[in-house]
Amino acid sequence: MVRLCFVCLGNICRSPTAEGIMLHLLQQQGLGARFHVDSAGTSALHVSEGPDPRSFAAARARGVHLPGVARKFQREDFARFDHVLAMDSENMRLLRALAPDESARSKVRLLRSFDAASPAGAGVPDPYYGEGDGFERVFDICEAACRGLLTELLAK
Ligand code: 4NP
Repeated sequence: MVRLCFVCLGNICRSPTAEGIMLHLLQQQGLGARFHVDSAGTSALHVSEGPDPRSFAAARARGVHLPGVARKFQREDFARFDHVLAMDSENMRLLRALAPDESARSKVRLLRSFDAASPAGAGVPDPYYGEGDGFERVFDICEAACRGLLTELLAK
């Protein structure tokens, strides 16, 4: 069992999108039983809320359901997951600062680092205050990165 946790700031836009996409890819490929997938936020801003309706709509348009209720990432989560996928460098910094030891710190990676076409160090842009197609872009970026992540995990 490989355990994945996607992490953004609020756990209502980017990380639930990545979680829903990964669950969808796993289901399509008959791999659901081999993975445990979750998401969380580095803040408590939206704890217990469902995904943002704009994220929900962008995902639904691609046939992807977004599960989950927002929660804050806890230090204990490092023991519960093998890979902690940060949506951007600020959330990666917060997660690494929270990590209890080097083993936990090494579990934290930028999600987009698994997309070979993504620039080094790039994050998934925060769509929350943006206009227009930000949520569709977030979906596309998360999908490319999740495909790359899954390919790498399956190659291990
Ligand atoms: P997320 O987006 O981190 O992708 O869930 C945000 C959600 C809420 C806020 C910021 C980003 N906020 O400031 O409330």
